[in-house]
Amino acid sequence: MTLVMAGAISHAPGITGREKMAPEDKKTRYYDACYRFRDHLWDQKPDALVLVSAEHFGNFFMDKMPTFCIGLADDYQGPIETEEFLNIPKTTIPGAPELARRIADVAMQEVDLGYSQEWSFDHGFMVPLAFLTPKWDLPIIPLNINCQVPPLAPLQRCHALGKALRKAIDAQPERIALIGCGGISHWPATPDSGKINEEWDRAFLEDFVANKTDRLLRYSNDEIYRDAGPGGQEVRTFITVAGAVEGHGGELWCYEAIPIFAVGCTVVNMDVAA
Ligand SMILES: [Fe+2]
Repeated sequence: MTLVMAGAISHAPGITGREKMAPEDKKTRYYDACYRFRDHLWDQKPDALVLVSAEHFGNFFMDKMPTFCIGLADDYQGPIETEEFLNIPKTTIPGAPELARRIADVAMQEVDLGYSQEWSFDHGFMVPLAFLTPKWDLPIIPLNINCQVPPLAPLQRCHALGKALRKAIDAQPERIALIGCGGISHWPATPDSGKINEEWDRAFLEDFVANKTDRLLRYSNDEIYRDAGPGGQEVRTFITVAGAVEGHGGELWCYEAIPIFAVGCTVVNMDVAA
């Protein structure tokens, strides 16, 4: 078939773990957007979801740190975190190993992908999935981008990854969704945790929704670190999706700065017209 749905959604452990501590109005607006995104995903009758995210040293550390890594496992366990911390039960998430292998085979014509047949999900994958696939019944193909530790994946290579994924997805007979999941601005695990740069987030989202490649790729790593925090480096997941739908924009469904969630919270639906 082809790519049937694309977009981006935020992740942070507080989004689910500190649900009851958030201002009710902001939380409700954000959760409602996440549920709308879930319904839109399922309306496309997807066979699988390629979820591009950034995990946090749960599987990949300094001894082995792939720039890009795609999951080829039969299934995945998660969350790594405790149920009490994340408010998400331990579960098994189905993979799509044969489809993932076919996607990797095509994408690797243009980008270099690491791959793994063994992978446990942390909140980087589990928080979006808790909203999007609450019954854990949609096969997931995880793709991790090193957004955590230098040398980070270059922004233009993330964009190229998105273009390669699009070509690979469109070459398959299945109906496939592609969602990027990460920060926008946040300062996790630092004394500034809870800080959000709403002005920076809205400027980035304006360029993302308009899918202005030059604008999205103009940031240096130092600028992102200064203005959007270490967690802001996860915009690489959004930029990958922008590459996959290059030439097409999208619609901002929600942005809420929610300090107790410790991240700028967004949902963006992108146009997947070929
Ligand atoms: Fe993260």
